[in-house]
Amino acid sequence: MVDAALRSQVRQWIVEAPRITVLSGAGMSAESGVPTFRDALTGLWARFNPEELATETAFRAHPQRVWAWYAHRREALAQVQPNAGHCALAAFALRHPGRLTLITQNVDGLHQRAGLADTIALHGSLLDDHWLDLPRTCCHTEPIQSGEPPSCPVCGNQRRPSVVWFGESLPGPAFAAAEAAAQDCDLMLVVGTSGVVYPAAGLAFTAHQRGARVVIVNPEPSDLDAVADACLREPAAQCLPHLLENS
Ligand code: OAD
Repeated sequence: MVDAALRSQVRQWIVEAPRITVLSGAGMSAESGVPTFRDALTGLWARFNPEELATETAFRAHPQRVWAWYAHRREALAQVQPNAGHCALAAFALRHPGRLTLITQNVDGLHQRAGLADTIALHGSLLDDHWLDLPRTCCHTEPIQSGEPPSCPVCGNQRRPSVVWFGESLPGPAFAAAEAAAQDCDLMLVVGTSGVVYPAAGLAFTAHQRGARVVIVNPEPSDLDAVADACLREPAAQCLPHLLENS
């Protein structure tokens, strides 16, 4: 059941907060039809082994299989739309220029499609790819050879999905911007993440330690609940419009 009093308390905090940072995870897009990673039945990592699909070692060993898995997920994104939660965040940002910074772990591009073009995408993008190895001149001058994965016809260098795999560093500029936003905010909304993957999850601790209020929107408990001033146990697409509309 929705805790109306808690929701209205959080609404008041939002009204009062000069700088708001949002940290979103896979649950943000669940109501758009994009699977999460760790939900028990439907989560991707409940059905697939991340070691076989989300590491550079796996890609080098089985490039066709790994490429095909990401290509399938990329194609599925063409069938989904931003949900009411994505839209509420984008509309709020539009009404309050410079007040909201959005950091996402999601690679689905739905925040950007909702209108938040300056979303900080910590884990990259499913819609992009780049060279696996440092590109040589031929990689730039020759037309890319189609295939699974596409490759350079001269040196064989392969294209790989532009998502951060396990064991890889986050993109430096994106993480620096995310840390700054976590350090400088007055309120952090943590939406739809289990909070188990670092360094992204550490941003909630940073915000808490710097004195920001932390509010979690998640129907289930998460690993970040300990630093939360409030946990709204609701799905994002239902909760965020109520929190953000008319403010
Ligand atoms: P998880 O799958 O670990 O967690 C999803 C969270 O969303 C869970 O806590 C759910 O309870 C919650 N959830 C489910 N439906 C929801 C809804 N409608 N509204 C709000 N919350 C809901 O996903 P992440 O925390 O995003 O890395 O996972 C972090 C990273 O682990 C991902 O970015 C991915 C993965 O390996 C990369 O792809 C690099």
